Order: sequence, then structure tokens, then C-alpha cells
Amino acid sequence: MNPLALDLNEQLSKAQPQVADMLSDLGKLMYYPKGILSQSAEAKKTKYNATIGMATYSDRKMYADSLYNAFNELEPDDIFPYAPPQGLEELRDLWKDKVQRDNPELNPNDYSRPIVTNALTHGLSLVGDMFVDTNDTILLPNHNWGNYKLIFSTRHSAQIETYPIFDDNGNFTTQGLVEALDRSNQEKIFLILNYPNNPTGYTPNKDEVKEIVNAIDRLSKRGTNVIAVVDDAYFGLFYEDVYPYSLFTALTQLDSEHVLPIRLDGATKELFAWGFRVGFITFGISDQKAQEVLEAKIKGLIRSNISSGPMPTQSIVKHVLENKDQLDRELQRNFETLKARYEVTKDLVYQDQYQSCWQPYDFNSGYFMALQVKGVDAEELRVHLINKYSIGVVALNDKDIRIAFSCVEKEDLQYVFDSIAQAINDLQ
Ligand SMILES: Cc1ncc(COP(=O)(O)O)c(C=O)c1O
Repeated sequence: MNPLALDLNEQLSKAQPQVADMLSDLGKLMYYPKGILSQSAEAKKTKYNATIGMATYSDRKMYADSLYNAFNELEPDDIFPYAPPQGLEELRDLWKDKVQRDNPELNPNDYSRPIVTNALTHGLSLVGDMFVDTNDTILLPNHNWGNYKLIFSTRHSAQIETYPIFDDNGNFTTQGLVEALDRSNQEKIFLILNYPNNPTGYTPNKDEVKEIVNAIDRLSKRGTNVIAVVDDAYFGLFYEDVYPYSLFTALTQLDSEHVLPIRLDGATKELFAWGFRVGFITFGISDQKAQEVLEAKIKGLIRSNISSGPMPTQSIVKHVLENKDQLDRELQRNFETLKARYEVTKDLVYQDQYQSCWQPYDFNSGYFMALQVKGVDAEELRVHLINKYSIGVVALNDKDIRIAFSCVEKEDLQYVFDSIAQAINDLQ
């Protein structure tokens, strides 16, 4: 049991022992992790808060005006009624059109109509409910989003197995995943592919995607059932010549009935609408009957936990997708802003004067980049940065920090990285 859960149970046993006895097994196992959210909370008052998974200017969030304006354009019937558990039907079709436009190599018959989720976390939890049993193996890169642990290990008692995605020089490598897949002798394996990656901001190129997909293919041809979940939270934020589609596209092109690609995506980051809680789950399966059954089961899972998602924000996403040219222009502006910040960051972090302070991990996409810091403890550095420099970063472990350039103005990046280097020198 996680020490934080143990501590909560002990506190409850002291305060109200009878309530502690009432807890289910899951109730006993549950805790609130001291992860990114609590580090973000500590950095809330900093001048340069590069901890959060949103995109911001120094004085406001980076959003699309048409989404904001749509709040005044909805009719009562777009706001007050229940949405169906599977989401608004027109929204599902409009999202499928978007998926197809973004991934022209997808065969529209090879995947289901997207089902609306209460954003990506809910989608992850749903695939956990549907496909993960106690002690199943979940294969994750060792740089991964912390919430996977709570969802799959704590809620579903799965075994998390990790593999490296960077070599000793910080360069991306597929070797760890390929070796893990090649040596697997399980009947079933569940893997999450999250690119652009949180926390490192890396997306594989075409050849690297081919290596990953071929290894999945080889494993499935040996009879292992592979559930390949593609977490596309940051889809489209590609700043270099990477594989330009979702990995879901490459996976649906495999000719293996033992592979089930599942795509999770949504408005959260793609439309800069984090609080909307509108996401989608899509199955990469062509059989019509199987699509219908999977949809019925997901509807049952939704009905039995949140009943249905929020009507107002589903209506707004539907509304803007109906006028998508305007939306696309606004999203493109946001993209250009993030890309400019990425380029400045890239120019800065490899400079000679920082070599004694850190080694960057490869990055080319998304909101974040990560540094392996030299000669200091990452957590100690994080706290020092808040206290002395009013800068918020996330300590990922004892040697890596994550910096969200999505939250730092281009003009401030030099100061932020200079200060991180200075803070490292203070502590070295
Ligand atoms: C990799 C990854 N997956 C999923 C999510 C969750 O997204 P949502 O807010 O849509 O639940 C995040 C959010 O930070 C993320 O970074």
C-alpha cells in the first residue's frame, strides 16, 4: 500500500475508527498523490510558474476566442438537458471528421465513432475498467504522466513495468520498448503510448514509429493480445519533422487481430479548453459488431460512474467545429506562439555555458521539456527556485525537472533558464 494511503488510513482510524472499518479495499488503497498538482500549488505565487499543464500568457490563459464567445451563443436546449452517456451524436460525427482530416492515412472503416468522455483522464479510467485486471502488466516509459499510476496501479492493482525512452546522452531511443516487447511472454499486455510525451515533450519520427509498431506486430504474431492505448492529449503540437499523425493511425494499419488500438484525445489541450472536460475514446477496430458491443459496454461504464458528461461544453465544442475555419485560425495563432517559445527554449538549453548544469532530454513537441540536472537534488532545486528566484518547475524524481514552456512568455525564457543555472550553481 502507498505510504500516503497508509497515513490517511491511520489518521481516519484515530479520528473515526468505525468509518475506517467501513472503507472498501479501493477506499483503503486510495490517496491523493504528492505529484504535479501539489508542486503546482506550491508554485502558484511564483512570477514564472512553469509547472502547469496549460498554455498561458503572463496575465491570462491562452484560449480560442470562438470557444469563449460561444458561451453567449448557446440556446437553453444546448445547455440544460442531459447529454446522452455516449455524448452528443453530432459532436461525435464532427470529431470523427476532425480525426480523419488530421490523419488522412486512416481508413475511416478501420475505427469506431468516437465516444465522448469526461476528458482524457476519464477515458483512461474507462479503458482501465474495461481491459485491466489485477496483476495485468501495464507497460510505460519511465518518463510518464504520474496519474497513470493512480489509475492503473492503485485503482486496478495492475503491475506497472517501465522501460527507458532516453539513452545516457538524453537521446530518444525505442530500444527499451522494443526489448520489453520482444522478451514478453504474457498472454496479454497493455501499453500506453503518449506522444508528444508528458513530461519530456518528445514525439518519435517516422522511422522510430515504424520500430515501435513493428515490435508490437511481432509480439502480437506470437499470440499475445496487445491493448495499445494512444494517449494523444498533446496531439498536433509538433514543432519539427516528426511522425505527423497519431500513432493510432500506424497501429490501425497493422494486420493483426491480436492488437487493439485505442485512441484517447480531446478538447483539453488540442482546443486549449482544459476545464471543458470533453474528450473522446475511439477503437481501432473495423468489425461493425465489435464496434457496437464495445460502444454499448463503454456506455454502461459511463452510465454507472458519471451517468453522462457535461452538456454545455459538448455543445460549445460542437458549435465551434461547425465553424471550424475560424477556430482553426485561432488555434493556429496559439500554435505559433507555442512554437516560438519552443524555438527559443531549444536555442537556449543546449548552450555551452549550461553544460555543467544539466543535460536536456530530446524534445520537439508539446508543452514541456525536461532536464537532467547535474550535482544537485531535483527536489531541493525546485524548492530553491521557488524561494530565491520565484520560478516554479516540477521535480520528476531526484535528478529530472520538467519545465512547461507553454506557461512562460518567449521574452522571459532566457531569464528562467539563466536563473535555473544560477540556482544549480548555488546548490552545487
Ligand atoms: C499525458 C496526459 N494524458 C492525459 C491528461 C489528462 O487530460 P484531461 O485533462 O483531458 O483529463 C494529461 C493532462 O495533463 C496528460 O498530460
